[in-house]
Amino acid sequence: MPNFVLFGAPGAGKGTLAGKIKKFSPVAHISTGDLFRYNIKEGTPIGKEAKSYIDAGKLVPDSVVIGMVKDRIALDDVKEHGFMLDGFPRTLDQAKALNEIAKLDVVVVLDIAKEDLKKRILGRWSCPKCGEIYNIYNDELKPKVEGKCDKCEDTNLTHRSDDNEETFEKRWNTYLSQSEEVINYYDKTEGLVGRVDGTRTMSYTEDELRKILKL
Ligand code: AP5
Ligand code: MG
Repeated sequence: MPNFVLFGAPGAGKGTLAGKIKKFSPVAHISTGDLFRYNIKEGTPIGKEAKSYIDAGKLVPDSVVIGMVKDRIALDDVKEHGFMLDGFPRTLDQAKALNEIAKLDVVVVLDIAKEDLKKRILGRWSCPKCGEIYNIYNDELKPKVEGKCDKCEDTNLTHRSDDNEETFEKRWNTYLSQSEEVINYYDKTEGLVGRVDGTRTMSYTEDELRKILKL
């Protein structure tokens, strides 16, 4: 399995695709958003610092994110199985820092327009126990029983606090202001970037991802 990055706007499908890969591979899934939410829940110093940025739809400062990812990449599961990064890097400085700490084989960019994203963000529910992601507006991605996880039957699904219309607008603008220079940075290396049409069905995007990763 190559070391790769899932890159895309809020709601593009990064976490959902990572979940598909995890079903058949032990590769380490490193989602900076998930790490922050865990730290917020546990009340750690990182969580306390990150919360106000996340609630405002802004990026957590590079120094905090880079330190957290460095620590995560140093763990044994990454040494053994490699990594898939979800939501990192998001700035040029993060991309340069990653270059110093790890070898990256592929950057997968999920292309999707703003108008398709809002419905995904507002319809997203997830399981606090196993992390499975659902969407109530999509028949393919709906839970079997409303509000309950298909796998952890007694668990109620939850909605992220930043998944509202106002914060989505801010997250989208943040993405627009940072994404181009990160993609341009990676585009300089021939063959590093692979693009997936993120507007298509889940099975289509998974197939395209597998082709890019040669799985
Ligand atoms: P993070 O948690 O990474 O949020 P995000 O980038 O806004 O992305 P999302 O998790 O919202 O979307 P996703 O692409 O994972 O989509 P998903 O698969 O869930 O970050 C949160 C915050 O943390 C940031 O705003 C920032 O403050 C901070 N942060 C994180 N990383 C940082 C960094 N590197 N630097 C600084 N700050 C950082 O899918 C969305 C919905 O769509 C789901 O309901 C799903 O079921 C549905 N869906 C998925 N695929 C499809 C499909 N093909 N068709 C139809 N529906 C689909
Ligand atoms: Mg996500």
